[in-house]
Amino acid sequence: MSLIVYNGSPRGEISNSSTITSWFLEGYGNDNIEIRFLKKFKQHLTYAEEMTNYDQVLMVFPLYVDGMPGQVKHFYELLSSLKGKLKDKPITFIIHSGFSDAIQSRVLEQHCNRFSKIMNLNNHGVIIIPGSEGFRLMPPIMTKKKRIAVSKLGALYKANEQYNEKALKSLLGKEKSSKFGSFKFRIMYFLGLTNMYWNSQLKKNNALKNCFDAPYKDNPSPITTKAHISNF
Ligand SMILES: Cc1cc2nc3c(=O)[nH]c(=O)nc-3n(C[C@H](O)[C@H](O)[C@H](O)COP(=O)(O)O)c2cc1C
Repeated sequence: MSLIVYNGSPRGEISNSSTITSWFLEGYGNDNIEIRFLKKFKQHLTYAEEMTNYDQVLMVFPLYVDGMPGQVKHFYELLSSLKGKLKDKPITFIIHSGFSDAIQSRVLEQHCNRFSKIMNLNNHGVIIIPGSEGFRLMPPIMTKKKRIAVSKLGALYKANEQYNEKALKSLLGKEKSSKFGSFKFRIMYFLGLTNMYWNSQLKKNNALKNCFDAPYKDNPSPITTKAHISNF
């Protein structure tokens, strides 16, 4: 079996998507594996064409503003032109997100399922992993359970066996935060703890002072596209 992995993180090599991929490959094995980083925009067409040469495909990407990163969308659009060549190609998806509620990724899950159907791909399943921010920085003991669950799924994918519901559920966690969880989040918000990391990133990039800028507020650009998604 050969596998091509598409990493959809704008962070590329040093990303939580890479960490999750390494867990998956622990179970899948490292032979006949290639990893492509979709942050390399100009390579997208080559990467898309390469998909035809592999037995199985894995797409790993983070949730960005409740959707997929733009580069993943761009790549999907290119893939559409190869529809005929990719018929019945086995594919699996890993969507992961910073926040801990699985419900956030459900729309994107539907998108992956629909996309596979439209493209006549053989969809092995969509794996949802909330709470991924920090995976790459956490001590291994903190991510051990998730690592084991993801590697089990990797082994099942290689063997072309159905994903284990238990492993999928253990990764998914809660669909929505409990009332207590939301309460805790609010307290952290009021204490300024929820924004600490993001503010540190803004500071690092000298952009904190601009974070509430709204440059298009008084001069919005007109929406010219007539594109829409039809319901079928
Ligand atoms: C621009 C941006 C938008 C994001 N949007 C969401 C979001 O809507 N929901 C969420 O749970 N996490 C969101 N996140 C957090 C990422 O999904 C999370 O940090 C993920 O682990 C990043 O993975 P990566 O290191 O592979 O890029 C966002 C992060 C960024 C930078």
